[in-house]
Formats: sequence, structure tokens, C-alpha cells
Amino acid sequence: MTDIDQIKAEALSAIGAATTLEALDAERVRLLGKQGQVTALLKSLGGMSPEQRQSEGPRINGLREAVSDAIASRKAALEGAALEARLASERIDLSLPAPERPRGSVHPVSQVMDELAEIFADMGFAVATGPEIEDDWHNFTALNIPETHPARAMHDTFYFPGQMDRDGRRMLLRTHTSPVQIRTMTSQQPPIRVIAPGRVYRSDSDATHTPMFHQIEGLVIDRGIHLGHLKWTLETFLKAFFERDDVVLRLRPSYFPFTEPSAEVDVGYSLKDGKRVIGGSEGWMEVLGSGVVHPRVIRACGLDPDEYSGFAFGTGVDRLAMLKYGMDDLRAFFDGDLRWLRHYGFQALDVPTLSGGVGA
Ligand code: DAH
Repeated sequence: MTDIDQIKAEALSAIGAATTLEALDAERVRLLGKQGQVTALLKSLGGMSPEQRQSEGPRINGLREAVSDAIASRKAALEGAALEARLASERIDLSLPAPERPRGSVHPVSQVMDELAEIFADMGFAVATGPEIEDDWHNFTALNIPETHPARAMHDTFYFPGQMDRDGRRMLLRTHTSPVQIRTMTSQQPPIRVIAPGRVYRSDSDATHTPMFHQIEGLVIDRGIHLGHLKWTLETFLKAFFERDDVVLRLRPSYFPFTEPSAEVDVGYSLKDGKRVIGGSEGWMEVLGSGVVHPRVIRACGLDPDEYSGFAFGTGVDRLAMLKYGMDDLRAFFDGDLRWLRHYGFQALDVPTLSGGVGA
């Protein structure tokens, strides 16, 4: 049957003329698809007499085979050509100079925050956040600092004169990250394990104080949490942060309205060539405030203090950065001096990991 020869000749030339994989696939569908030309011929075998089938069967099957072989080899050729073209277009000249490395650097505060997140994530803490513009209740009252409390005066708060909260009190720039404790306890159920790094504001400015600085808060709330859990957590954290096993902690009784008992935590240092080095106990440096969460704070958040207890801590991120990386003037952190940033900044790709050393 010349018919079949003709179909074959046409099919092979169409396949040969396909210049893209898409065009080739369209040909495959036209010939071998469900409604395809060759498929129709194959189907017609069913309606033939045995004699006819004997003579036409091999020719039609031969046609199918020739067509699928042609498609396969055309496909291989097109794919090969596409690969060649890609290799040619992606060729790089290794003798060219390397691209300049990125000029920006990661600020030590960002670096330390990333280090802290990495250390605490390993202990099962999540990162919590809260607004920098706070209301009086979250920043003070719920933290057991009522209107008349002297601690309010100590905070040198920036208030928004014309902007009132629901209770008719002036909105303010949060003076610490502790309100995130309240926001967390009022929005999720225990067990709670969070850290909250962020910016805080106080009207204060000298070599060790800037009106904006950074704190990190920690909060754990569950059944049966006590001071021992706090001490272990802080010890583990400070050893990981300073990357030394000989970090010695001293818990000094103190007072914070939102914790009872409260403790200030000092780390020991030794003197090497007149410089303070973390480790040992020749002298002590205060690094954070902490304590067992006051039952009133737990109750203010709608939880039962007879059922739940917890610990909290808070510290300055800038101060931690200064201690670890040896800077002595806090104001330089916020001057934006490129020489300082180049010297103390971290490379963008130096992501802190516990395995690689958080400060590496
Ligand atoms: N909020 C305190 C401050 O700004 C720091 C602090 C002390 C936070 C003790 C705590 C804590 O969570 O338990 O000075």
C-alpha cells in the first residue's frame, strides 16, 4: 500500500523538520497519540480479514516502529543541541579576575542577635516579638510596675504626648523587652520558651548609654519551673556565647518588680596583660538581670500562678557584643562610621552556627 509508504515519508520528514522539543512532541501526538494518524491505522487492524491483517499488520507495525525510532533519535539530537547551547552560553573564563567581594558587613549587634537565636534555638526556645511603640499596661502595669512605682521614674521613658492607649494613658517607646513576656503569655498557652531580642528606648545618653539600644528577653513558663532551671539555662547560654567552658557565674540577690526572687548575674573574668578576659574569677562583671516570674505577672496574663511558674531574664545585646568583641564605646555602634563597621563588622556569609562556632 503506497498509502503507508507515503504516511511514513511524510511523518519522517515532519519529524526531521521539528526544530524544538515542543514541536517534536506535537508531531508525536499527531502521529502516535490517542487520536494519532498511526494509532488510527493500528486500530484499523481489528476490522480486517485475517488475510489482510497478515499482509498489512507487519507494514503498519513497521510504520509505528519507524516513527517512534525517528522521534527518539530526533529527541536525543535536539536535547544534545540544547545542552551544547547551554554549555556554550554558561562558559566562564577562569582567567578573569574574581568578582569583588560584597562591601557591606553585618553589624555586631545583628551578629550577636543571630548568635543568641542560634544558641537558644538549640535549647528549644522560639523567637518572640512585640511592638516598639507600647502601651502603659504591657510596658509597666502588667509587669507589676503600677503607676506609683518608683521603677517607673528609673526608666526615663519617652512618651507620645498626644497618643493615648485604651486606658487613657500616653503611648510610649518601650523601655525594655519585658513587655514581650506579657504579649507572649497573653497570646499562647504554656509550656512557653521564648527569647525576644529587639530595640528599646530610654532618654539617656553618654559613653555607655544611647537613647536607643538593644535588649534580649528570655521567658520560660511551665509547671514546676524553678531557680535551678534558670541557673542551668544561663550557664549553658553564657558558655556557648563566650565559647569557653570556664565561664563562672555568680547570682547576686537583687530586685526587679516582675520577678521574685530576683538575681543579677555576674560572670567572672581574669586579667591577661591588664585586659579583662571572660573566664576565671579574679573579678566580676554584671551581665544580666533575671528571676522567678512574679505570681502577679502570671496572674495579670490570665494564667494561674498556683499551676504555672517560670523564670525570666533580660540583658543588653550591645553590652554582650562589647564584652565579646572588645569594643569600649557604645556610641560607635550607632554612628554609622564605615571604618568602624569595616573593622568590627562580620562578613555576610558568616552565619553563626553551633557546629561552626557561633562567633566564627
Ligand atoms: N527589664 C529589665 C531592664 O530593662 C531587665 C530584666 C531584669 C528583665 C530581670 C527580666 C528580668 O526578664 O527577669 O532593666
